[in-house]
Amino acid sequence: MKYGYFDDSRREYVITTPKTPYPWINYLGMEGFFSLISNTAGGYTFYKDARLRRITRYRYNNVPIDMGGRYLYIKDGDTVWNPGWSPCKTKLDFYECRHGMGYTVITGKKDGVSAEVTYFVPVGYDGEVQQLVLSNEGSETKSLKLFSLVEWCLWDAQDDCTNFQRNFSTGRVELEGSTIYHKTEYRDRRNHYAFFTVNAPIDGFDTDRDTFIGLYNGFGDPQVVEAGKPGNSVADGWSPIASHYNEITLAPGESTTLIFILGYAENPYDQKFEADGVSINKVKAHAMIDAYNTPEKVAAGLAALRAEWDRLLGIISVKTPDDRVDRMVNIWNQYQCMVTFNLSRSASYFESGIGRGMGFRDSNQDILGFVHQIPDRARERLIDLASTQLPDGGCYHQYQPLTKKGNSDIGGDFSDDPLWMILSVAAYIKETGDWSILDEPVPYDNDPDTAQSMLQHLVVSFYHVVNNLGPHGLPLAMRADWNDCINLSCYSDKPGESFQTYTNPKFKAEGGYSKTAESVMVAALFTYVGPSFVGILKHLGKDDEAKRAQEAIDAMKATVMKFGFDGEWFLRAYDATGAKMGSAECAEGKIFIEPQGFAVMSEIGKEVGADIKALDSVDRYLNTKYGLVLNNPAFSKYYIQYGEISTYPGGYKENAGIFTHNNAWIICAEAYAGRGDKAFEYYSKIAPAFNEEISELHKTEPYVYGQMIAGKDAGRFGEGKNSWLSGTAAWNMVAISQYILGIQPDFDGLTINPSIPKAWDGFVVTRKFRGGNYTVKVSNPKHISQGVASMIVDGKPVEGNRVPVLGAGDHVIEVVMG
Ligand code: GLC
Ligand code: GLC
Repeated sequence: MKYGYFDDSRREYVITTPKTPYPWINYLGMEGFFSLISNTAGGYTFYKDARLRRITRYRYNNVPIDMGGRYLYIKDGDTVWNPGWSPCKTKLDFYECRHGMGYTVITGKKDGVSAEVTYFVPVGYDGEVQQLVLSNEGSETKSLKLFSLVEWCLWDAQDDCTNFQRNFSTGRVELEGSTIYHKTEYRDRRNHYAFFTVNAPIDGFDTDRDTFIGLYNGFGDPQVVEAGKPGNSVADGWSPIASHYNEITLAPGESTTLIFILGYAENPYDQKFEADGVSINKVKAHAMIDAYNTPEKVAAGLAALRAEWDRLLGIISVKTPDDRVDRMVNIWNQYQCMVTFNLSRSASYFESGIGRGMGFRDSNQDILGFVHQIPDRARERLIDLASTQLPDGGCYHQYQPLTKKGNSDIGGDFSDDPLWMILSVAAYIKETGDWSILDEPVPYDNDPDTAQSMLQHLVVSFYHVVNNLGPHGLPLAMRADWNDCINLSCYSDKPGESFQTYTNPKFKAEGGYSKTAESVMVAALFTYVGPSFVGILKHLGKDDEAKRAQEAIDAMKATVMKFGFDGEWFLRAYDATGAKMGSAECAEGKIFIEPQGFAVMSEIGKEVGADIKALDSVDRYLNTKYGLVLNNPAFSKYYIQYGEISTYPGGYKENAGIFTHNNAWIICAEAYAGRGDKAFEYYSKIAPAFNEEISELHKTEPYVYGQMIAGKDAGRFGEGKNSWLSGTAAWNMVAISQYILGIQPDFDGLTINPSIPKAWDGFVVTRKFRGGNYTVKVSNPKHISQGVASMIVDGKPVEGNRVPVLGAGDHVIEVVMG
């Protein structure tokens, strides 16, 4: 069942009922100011850091789940309704929500009145613009009472929902004309404020929540709205809000437009106040309000946002025989990559914005799907990430976006972290040809005195693995590898101990984590990432160092075949007792997905058919109708030696859930092995546009990937969760564009190596690359999956399948498979 439809020409998903199976959200903002907005206008806003600079309040774990947002209440006689249906839930005559690229339009109609609200964060602007077009479509004059509402958060979202004894006495506001300013703590230690304004004179207001809503009412029946009369309340402690009240009369056929702006501004400390020493210096707010206070300015702002997305999505676009692929690649997958790049795993409807900053491994992987869009910001991100690395190559696992400092609460010692940075820096160079990044001085642990070149950071990353091998010569697993829930040094038996931060004191003498537990996944990741490192060294003429690195890679491959291959598939790990994990000998969790794809793409044991065996085992034991489960059989009891993975009921999350992120690695590997039909089968099982028809089961948005789909062992097999912020976005972009369609940026050109369904006649990719516009036309007359028979570049036949860097201008590459 569907709850809407894709409108590809406008790059929108159009939701036609407010009662989606879960709130279906969108993100507004790309740099400083961010909003989450659901299809009923729920959600919240923040500046840069969802924890430390929360602007509006939102309650996670709420009942109903999506309560609180930016609401407009329309009182028409005795009927009160919202354009987005919630929170009053008055039945509407028409409802529609269009989520587009950085904007959302919600339209509701009731009793002849239409309210269309457009929400967006203009490019380079620290505020959310909300334009309401209110029209009388009936035949009688309408006298309407309009109330707006946002609820302020007292800035630090964690403190805001815990420290009531203080916070109930700190809230403060200031009023000026139609603008309500939120200035809690501004008098003392803060230099920032928020405001909510409307571009018309108001007939009343409220800034105190309990006056507006009433202590025994809720968002759905605020007492002031029910009474049809504002309280003109001025908040003084408790919970400050901002609500405007306007009386509007519309003749039949008449329309009016009101523009609300929810903004954020900072002042230098010595310019915080007006001459009276008390009032906020509002110069910045005035300028921000002036920028969008007419429909013409709003239209221009929306046009600029559209133009920016035309540009971003114009860099890579495809035309394949399947509309759903085009829709994913050309619109939604790239859009999601931008969101994950901006927000890492911090703020979604499943991530509270309090728990995590920017993840080291997450953000490095996010670069892979995104680097072509804004390479300059990718470069800056890479340097920020590398600056939180430690001199021995280990890394802080997370950093806070506002301070850019490594987060010592969670610390380091995640065995995979450094490797992702080699991959992301290589991807950046392959895309841009900007080798200068390697010369950039980058500190360790944010200490400028320790700065070394980015290249040196890659060297310590590579050798962090080589220097930390266990008894079999495989990489030590440390606190966890990519799978945060395989915690081989934890042995936790007390509720509340964090599996990611707790290591058992019994490993203290060994340096904090087991020196026996080893990760085959990190071994395979090392051999997959290693060649990029070698390629970089060779390009720089460092042949001896390249040779040494290659030897380490070759040795690792041999070790994996010796100690990490289980006969039919690759092992997952050795636990802290030295026992195998992910082996046919195990009672549960006999096979895991993570090492298989990287091992295949590194050609470990290819000469003895290990690659095809591993892929066939994945198909046999992990494949289900909704995607590939992470492990099988699921763990049915707690294995203290494995940690968090066995705390989830079977089929959820890392315990045999369909973890879509690592499905992409198998898609890549199947494509690499030339099995294009299999690759595409796996791709289409998890790509959201392919699951639109089963939205009632899938539940989460049909336009973006979630982290997980419940696996076959779960009570809710096929149900999606944790939508939006997942490495799935980046990796599936890589899987479809670089492995299935096979257009791979390389250090010195593009490699064209498609691996497609045999039924396809071909496809076209247009792509900007190093200043040129490339059109790659692939035809598949023999209906095969892989193999390039001939290639013509700008009219001239070329041997092989590598297109050199051609420079500026338009280039046509005609590829015939065979
Ligand atoms: C989450 C984390 C990611 C981790 C994955 C598997 O998605 O953000 O870092 O690799 O789970 O545990
Ligand atoms: C939990 C999640 C995992 C995530 C981790 C990070 O363990 O299951 O997916 O990566 O938290 O905090």
